[in-house]
Amino acid sequence: MNGDKLIIFDTTMRDGEQSPGASMTRDEKLRIARQLERMKVDVIEAGFPASSNGDFEAVSAIAKVIKDSTVAGLCRANDKDIQRGIDALKGAKSWRIHTFIATSALHMEKKLRMTPDQVFEQAKLSVRYAKNACPDVEFSPEDGSRSDPDFLCRVLEAVIKEGATTINIPDTVGYAVPEQFGELIKIIRTRIPNSDKAVWSVHCHNDLGMAVANSLAAVRIGGARQIECTVNGLGERAGNTSLEEVVMALRTRKDFFKLETRIDTTQIVPASRLVSQITGFVVQPNKAVVGANAFAHASGIHQDGVIKARETYEIMTAEDVGWSANKIVLGKLSGRTAFRQRLKELGIELDNEEGYNKAFQRFKDLADKKSEIFDEDLHALVSHEAGLSSNEVWGLVSMSQGSGTADKPHASVVLMNKDKKISAEAKGDGPVDATFKAIESVAKSGAELLLFSVNAVTQGTESQGEVTVRLAKGGRIVNGVGADTDIVVASAKAYIGALNKLESKVERVNPQHQL
Ligand code: KIV
Ligand code: ZN
Repeated sequence: MNGDKLIIFDTTMRDGEQSPGASMTRDEKLRIARQLERMKVDVIEAGFPASSNGDFEAVSAIAKVIKDSTVAGLCRANDKDIQRGIDALKGAKSWRIHTFIATSALHMEKKLRMTPDQVFEQAKLSVRYAKNACPDVEFSPEDGSRSDPDFLCRVLEAVIKEGATTINIPDTVGYAVPEQFGELIKIIRTRIPNSDKAVWSVHCHNDLGMAVANSLAAVRIGGARQIECTVNGLGERAGNTSLEEVVMALRTRKDFFKLETRIDTTQIVPASRLVSQITGFVVQPNKAVVGANAFAHASGIHQDGVIKARETYEIMTAEDVGWSANKIVLGKLSGRTAFRQRLKELGIELDNEEGYNKAFQRFKDLADKKSEIFDEDLHALVSHEAGLSSNEVWGLVSMSQGSGTADKPHASVVLMNKDKKISAEAKGDGPVDATFKAIESVAKSGAELLLFSVNAVTQGTESQGEVTVRLAKGGRIVNGVGADTDIVVASAKAYIGALNKLESKVERVNPQHQL
């Protein structure tokens, strides 16, 4: 890659998945991976293969189908984790092992309980092990921004000698400030004699709201040529560097940065919608680039200006980032072939014929209620289809509810529990509350409701409502998402989706918790 190109490394399915409640199934990850490939992301970090069997399978499924992006897997710096990564990825057309170990005094002493010399040796041995199987090896010194620069230089020079081809400096806790971080990258690149043998990368968290600024400073001041980022800025705690903001900053201010990415920016909004729908993490309306208001000009002065000359108040267009993709694609008269074709264009593949038949039936039901079907509707419909898979414990058979100004709201539900139908009724403070109480009287999960949020999938009152329900139980947090033109039905689907996730007992190790 020559000097005026910048590599976009997406970690939505690894760092993004570490947000509480954002865990994704294999099929959800596959759909996101296909969208990232369509957007022309250079490197897709598909997961952390040693964290669970489910994530191992997701990473290897992605490695098999993705052809136009490099597929990476995160591995702690030990042979067992790295071997798991190799096993998951080795079938890919292009693959990368990403290994890391903490280098700050605080993390080495308190978390790893290792001396700096032990960390130094472990880092070298791990890169050597990975390099034996894979030519493309990335190394990250975790908590890099708070590490002693002398020690950092010693470790990084050694791992480059062992064959690391990318060196990624994480600001793990979002502590850096732009100028200082840019200077740090510059200093270590200048001091390390073999620094030209590696691509320099950064991975910034957003705890102080500076992840994008820090990443761009590392590029501009420090000469970094890879940015790690996530769709919608998803990630641990306050999140990670937002892909859409970095890419559009580089494109809109090419006069300043003089760098190009390979990204097809028209795929940004579809990617944002997909990630939001799958994880249940709603995008705030005023979020740069992908928020619903990002291109809405409400004030009269602004509207007047935009009508006379768009550039008066717009530095990029809605079409540039894919807002125009929100067009009517199908309707009541659309047939099976058109439906299947559009799913294909959206990168959605269902497991078998039965899946397509069920999805088509649901599409017809939706088209009866809603005359115009948008891509967002199809994503919501298929997300729900995935939620009805045969190995799930709870399913919704039917429901009804009553509410008004006079009566106490009440709801009745019929649920499927494996192959048994169970009915229940309850009263509540509103129709949603009554419905949740009715479901809970049967499921008896005892889970705590942390979040209930409703969002319109498209515009207008006939839009499907998309509901996110976040439940917590025994230290686990899960999100369920449901969509329907009736928001109480959508709420029930979301609640049941969350219950199924709690039942699935998928335990994932967080890569940063233990070595
Ligand atoms: O934030 C971090 O330090 C990470 C590394 C594993 C790259 O996510
Ligand atoms: Zn991170």
